[in-house]
Amino acid sequence: MNELDSLVESATQLFAQSATPADLENAKAQFLGKSGRVTELMKGMAQLSVEEKKSRGAAINVAKQAIEAALTARRQALADAELQLQLKAEALDVSLPGRQRGQGGLHPVSLTLERIQGIFGSMGFDVAEGPEIETDWFNFTALNTPEDHPARSMHDTFYVEGGTATAPNLLRTHTSPMQIRHAVQHVKKHRAALDAGQAMPEIRVIAPGRTYRVDSDATHSPMFHQCEGLWVGENVSFKDLKVIFTDFCRTFFESEDLVLRFRPSFFPFTEPSAEIDIQFQTGPLAGSWLEVAGSGQVHPNVVRNMGLDPEKYIGFAFGMGPDRLTMLRYGVNDLRLFFDGDIRFLSQFQ
Ligand code: PHE
Repeated sequence: MNELDSLVESATQLFAQSATPADLENAKAQFLGKSGRVTELMKGMAQLSVEEKKSRGAAINVAKQAIEAALTARRQALADAELQLQLKAEALDVSLPGRQRGQGGLHPVSLTLERIQGIFGSMGFDVAEGPEIETDWFNFTALNTPEDHPARSMHDTFYVEGGTATAPNLLRTHTSPMQIRHAVQHVKKHRAALDAGQAMPEIRVIAPGRTYRVDSDATHSPMFHQCEGLWVGENVSFKDLKVIFTDFCRTFFESEDLVLRFRPSFFPFTEPSAEIDIQFQTGPLAGSWLEVAGSGQVHPNVVRNMGLDPEKYIGFAFGMGPDRLTMLRYGVNDLRLFFDGDIRFLSQFQ
């Protein structure tokens, strides 16, 4: 291989090794630049004769053109590669499914709360809401709960800032404080009629909402839901409570032959008190008694704290657990699943 051929060869090699346009321009300078090797060869012809210059010059020119061709080819190859990279990076796969805004839905417990409100609404019950941070008065004292009742202990109740040293504020442990709050409002609204010895429209209300207790296992969550019910009038009886609650359960569970049982119990704010159990006659839960609510006749002291005369007014109250109703309705056996926020679990209820 002669000197010029090997020059072309080494230029071509160096161009091939240049990975970027900047490298390539540096490589070019080594051959075609002002003091590049081709330029040096041209300068070297000065001493040659005219004849020699002619043939030598032509040969150098051939080599120079070969180097320029190699340079152009390499430039093009680098530009092509660059373009390919860019195309790849910006590529759109038009066959991919479109991205949609996530479809939201209601939480299963919210679905239950809506269902409860719908059913009791159709039976003439109002819906009331109240604060989750309660005073000792509404949560305990007004509800006839004695000073030393275990529910008042730190093991059971989350106390928060505010209130007084002997009666600190707390996260409500049940929705029963709404019995007092709502009744007091109702009585205030009808004060004039009451004072004039006229009849007060019955109180018929449910109060759903979040409640809190120091408790956590498969069937207890420190935050859970309750729905209070209160019915106060001059002629209300346990029978009425049983009728509406049976109606509610049958509608809620879409089970016409479901049976109710009132099992004697104790709550400071009702006397007598009863747990309400239900029994399905068909389906996977058929046969066993399932507790769904606490209930009772509102204690005279509580009726008094509502601003009403317990000799004249009689009240019935119940408190149910919408979380438990949701578990029973859908056959879920761990309450915590509802509050873990796992979309895979929650989306099944849409
Ligand atoms: N508040 C009671 C509880 O949390 C339930 C209840 C409500 C009982 C109303 C009687 C009347 O367990």
